[in-house]
Amino acid sequence: MLLALETSCDETSAAVVHDGRVLSSVVSSQIQLHSEYGGVVPELAAREHLRNLIPVATAALAEARTAPEQLEAVAATRGPGLPHALMTGFKSAQAVAFALRKPFLGIHHHEAHLYSPWISGHPPAADFSAFEPNVSLIVSGGHTMLVHVQGELQHRLLGSTVDDAAGECFDKAGKLMGLPYPAGPEMDRLAEPGNPRAFDFPRPMINDAGDDFSFSGLKTSVRYFIRDHPSLLENPKSVADLCASVQAAIVDVLVKKTIKAARRLGLACITASGGVTCNRALRRDLAVACRANGFQLRLAEPALCTDNAAMIGILAERQFRQDPERHSFTEEILPNWPLDEAVPAPA
Ligand code: KG4
Ligand code: ZN
Repeated sequence: MLLALETSCDETSAAVVHDGRVLSSVVSSQIQLHSEYGGVVPELAAREHLRNLIPVATAALAEARTAPEQLEAVAATRGPGLPHALMTGFKSAQAVAFALRKPFLGIHHHEAHLYSPWISGHPPAADFSAFEPNVSLIVSGGHTMLVHVQGELQHRLLGSTVDDAAGECFDKAGKLMGLPYPAGPEMDRLAEPGNPRAFDFPRPMINDAGDDFSFSGLKTSVRYFIRDHPSLLENPKSVADLCASVQAAIVDVLVKKTIKAARRLGLACITASGGVTCNRALRRDLAVACRANGFQLRLAEPALCTDNAAMIGILAERQFRQDPERHSFTEEILPNWPLDEAVPAPA
């Protein structure tokens, strides 16, 4: 049994995993707290984690019917993330491991996202026997990246956003329309009856040879469009069309670049995770494109798309089983930890 904590941004989460199965996964979201500021306030996030950590971890242990003494190891997100937020979960988990005299593992947040699409079912369990080399799209409010996952625990960053993340683009475009933070889920809902071809927004870098993304130009063009057509916001049909058109521009870029990378690398499997992977148009369009190209598609389940400790625990247990010596009490948080520098497990 392994206890994992995740506090890299605005979700306080704890999970207990055992043999690839998620015995419990508790997530306390701070969205409500940050929404009045229109974005995550790092200092408030850290304070809220401190308030929530013990109740959330206690609930995860109780739900898994696990006593602290039964834990074999403790893990936490080491980075990347907001420094003070990371510090709360990381240092708490180290303290718990130290008190129990159990190994401690610091986990790379994005590396954990890479394996979340392989966790499914009720109760959720990781099915690594089905693992295929893949191109993985990680798309959230803070990140947009494509990763070549060559083998289990082996990966290489292909590209990432040079400015805003896709989720940030949803949130900022939504804010311009007067939607509350985070606007992504509301844009998804409002876009459903809309016409995605009603308005033509740019698809930045869609035909670039590389695997990088850029979304700030799209956000700017939405700003000018709304400035020039303010009356559109008064009509629910136009709002639906506007949401659907902005969403289509973001989703087109994500889908086309992901498919292109998989084709170029000769891979037959695509996976996706991160908060924006909850978006219904993205899920639909990826499914259609994968079917047309004969690719297997594995999308993280919506509950595992957003930040959660279950994915941290699943990866930590995998690393711990592969190399029981790979743990350390001298590690510190790494708020800017590049994915390619995450310690590779031995083959
Ligand atoms: O992974 P996540 O919970 O946190 C990080 O950003 O790390 O992702 C949150 C992001 C926000 O930008 C939110 O607007 C976006 O994911 N999001 C969505 C949807 N659900 C969440 N964007 C579009 N459609 C959705 N259904
Ligand atoms: Zn994340």
